[in-house]
Amino acid sequence: MDYKIAVLPGDGIGPEIVAEAVKVLEAVATKFGHRFYYRYGLIGGAAMRQGLDPYPDETHQICSDADAILFGAIGDPLYDNNPDAKVRPEQGLLAMRKRLGLYANLRPVKMYPQLVHFSPLKEDRIVGADLLVVRELTGGLYFGEPRELRNNGTLAVDTCVYSVEEIERITHVAFKLARQRRKKVTLVDKANVLETSRLWRRVVTRLAADYPDVELDFMFVDNTAMQLIINPKRFDVILTENLFGDILSDEASVISGSIGLLPSASIGDKVPLFEPIHGSYPDGAGKNIANPLATILSAAMLLRTGLSLPVEADAIESAVEETIRQKILTIDLNSDNPYKTSDVGDFVARICRGA
Ligand code: IPM
Ligand code: MG
Repeated sequence: MDYKIAVLPGDGIGPEIVAEAVKVLEAVATKFGHRFYYRYGLIGGAAMRQGLDPYPDETHQICSDADAILFGAIGDPLYDNNPDAKVRPEQGLLAMRKRLGLYANLRPVKMYPQLVHFSPLKEDRIVGADLLVVRELTGGLYFGEPRELRNNGTLAVDTCVYSVEEIERITHVAFKLARQRRKKVTLVDKANVLETSRLWRRVVTRLAADYPDVELDFMFVDNTAMQLIINPKRFDVILTENLFGDILSDEASVISGSIGLLPSASIGDKVPLFEPIHGSYPDGAGKNIANPLATILSAAMLLRTGLSLPVEADAIESAVEETIRQKILTIDLNSDNPYKTSDVGDFVARICRGA
């Protein structure tokens, strides 16, 4: 079969890790007789450095025409410490999520037994942990209006706003995914304080009646931050709003031993997008040292969720497991004998080709 994949390397280490994921996709194409047509687009700082908008229309067109999008990372130190910058690279990512209607962000967190010693958490707490953060991605504080500086810059306003419809559509996503897992959804909110959280509780409770086989419970976000560290095994699917999901998914990555291992999928009504959850790691850019596994695993999610190719996705995931078993790992997971970014990609690709 033929498929169109939009490729957005982005900033920092983005181009290097995406190149390895494309290498692995090509190996899968060879092995399974597919053809992937790649179209590359600029986004974030990479676009701004060419004098373009952080999410140029041309990139939007490439994304809209594709079957799935593979994205690297965004963020450029040029703008990080400048609160007065009018346009920032991150706006490219937010604009892309909004314009493509990517309202559900799925962040699976699992731990690899061979890497247990890389987690700062105690082994008995994390062995067997396997959870999925379902983060709302196009609402809440990230997008609510008004958002502005007032009174000559002495007052700043952001707005948290959610509609019933926004909560309903992501709730269905979470419950359906729970059915393919251990059938448990935990709604994480701050319903003891926030009106938006109380709306989430009402809507999610009502919809839960349609999924009698799935257990629903509730947890405040502050307690969740603690439970993720002391008892991560209690979670199956965590359903939560945009900002809470952003924070908790970075925290949950500690369970896996390295944020360089975690992929994600963003889905909505149109084209789905796949990206590692980590950032652009500017200090590592151009050095061929960054861990490409999160992006390679995002390519696996792209095959499974985006193109409905589960066998091909399994091939990548088992190749990654073999790579970990054989310790063909970058410096974050192998300081004694570190492999380069491209060595890891070559190894995974070779296993996928069956060579
Ligand atoms: C993420 C990132 C983004 C977010 C940034 C880069 C805007 O942290 O995808 O989790 O906050 O959503
Ligand atoms: Mg984040």
